Amino acid sequence: MTHPMMESASRTPAKTLAGLAATALAAAAVVAAVTGPASAASGLGQLAAAQGRYFGTALANNHLGESAYATVADREFNSVTPENEMKWDATEPSRGSFNYTGGDAIVSHAQGHGQSVRGHTLVWHSQLPSWVSNGGFNAATLTSVMQNHISNVAGHYKGKLYAWDVVNEAFNDDGTRRQSVFQTTIGDSYIATAFQAARAADPTAKLYYNDYNIEGINSKSTAVYNMVKAFKQQGVPIDGVGLQTHLILGQVPSDLQANLQRFADLGVDVALTEVDVRMQTPADSGKLATQSANYAALTKACLNVTRCVGITVWGVTDKYSWVPDVFSGYGAPLLFDDSFNAKPAYTGVSGALGGGTSSPSPSASPTSSPSPSASPTSSPSPSASPTSSPSPGRSCSATYQKVNEWNNGFQAEVTVANTGSSSVGGWTVTWAFPNGQKITQLWNGTPSQSGANVTVRNVSYNGTVAPNGSTTFGFTADWSGSNGTPSSVTCAAS
Ligand code: XIL
Repeated sequence: MTHPMMESASRTPAKTLAGLAATALAAAAVVAAVTGPASAASGLGQLAAAQGRYFGTALANNHLGESAYATVADREFNSVTPENEMKWDATEPSRGSFNYTGGDAIVSHAQGHGQSVRGHTLVWHSQLPSWVSNGGFNAATLTSVMQNHISNVAGHYKGKLYAWDVVNEAFNDDGTRRQSVFQTTIGDSYIATAFQAARAADPTAKLYYNDYNIEGINSKSTAVYNMVKAFKQQGVPIDGVGLQTHLILGQVPSDLQANLQRFADLGVDVALTEVDVRMQTPADSGKLATQSANYAALTKACLNVTRCVGITVWGVTDKYSWVPDVFSGYGAPLLFDDSFNAKPAYTGVSGALGGGTSSPSPSASPTSSPSPSASPTSSPSPSASPTSSPSPGRSCSATYQKVNEWNNGFQAEVTVANTGSSSVGGWTVTWAFPNGQKITQLWNGTPSQSGANVTVRNVSYNGTVAPNGSTTFGFTADWSGSNGTPSSVTCAAS
């Protein structure tokens, strides 16, 4: 299996939309928890959060102005990785001159949408400016150039990132070291030096080694495994291994889970960091079904390993995937198609995450509100409220469930189920918070809160619920002191 990577910085990083950072900051309603997986998204992010994981995407600043792109990104994902904005050519294009415009815009956007951020990447042979790769530095100088880059960039984002990919793609497929300028000038030790510099610059970010073709047990993954093992023995600060997971249709390694587990057993976290499953184009229904099964399999492999903390897909939509540009004849590798419709692969992931098998409504809808998340297939728990029905024959129940809680915030999901024999055309859910909790963001519903009392009505696309059917809405809220569950949650159907 080969994975031709760019050997030079031939690809320009995404351009930043002027003013985006300011806009995102102004719009920020929720501040993300930065030290752990955030949880304010709906969709896949919410399903993953219920499993104690995150589900993320690569995010590109230059597409955030496209509303369908931003809508899907913000609805589905609770973690983001800047696709290009934090790479060396973007952050230190000339020696000692740092530019954080693109990275800052991504971080503000993420903070405004309850998404944690994986920093990507500090030391890599690609998208490396030629002042570094062709600078003719000796070992001591290149070491200090690298340390200076890390201390500035990781220092700039100190406390704001969940993780950093400290070193990216340092091995060849045969397990030898890639002959990057860092390797040929400094030697093997540059990787440990980079991790030490990153820890010093940002003590709270989880520090990852990240690479491709290390998903199965093979020469390359074993070389990485041996390095991590040595780092652990030597006290080099490493917290995680990122498996990029750029796969070819039908080629999910059968030993993916075993491989994740062997890394986890070394005492590090693992994550699938850049997932895509490419196929020869054009796509057809058979390939899309295989892709769905592949996505389900890799999701389950992660869920089956306790220290597999999350999954990131390498882009929101097939429309902007890097795949067709790099792998000739291949494409359609992601969860949303060129028109931002959920593909069968989406259902594969949501099913594996324990959600339903329905797709979100097409993001073509002229709204920036989140679309409904997949309806749970399980029936409401016995704690479902008694029903009340203003319209004859129509009734519903609401079940309130806290899915995540952190310092002063929490996330909950409410399932609205049709308990009657006729279709419900609209619903209103009400409750009173027992401890002064205050809603900060709500999706898939229209909230109003007055003191302790909360009323949530359906939005246009999820008012209709069939008999035996259900829909959900979710929210994040602030709490302090204690965070009790409302004693009664009522639902009125119309
Ligand atoms: C890719 C981006 O998706 C492209 O936009 C860019 O032109 C080149 O880089 N491994 C990595 C990622 O670690 O940074 C790469 O991202 C894909 C392969």
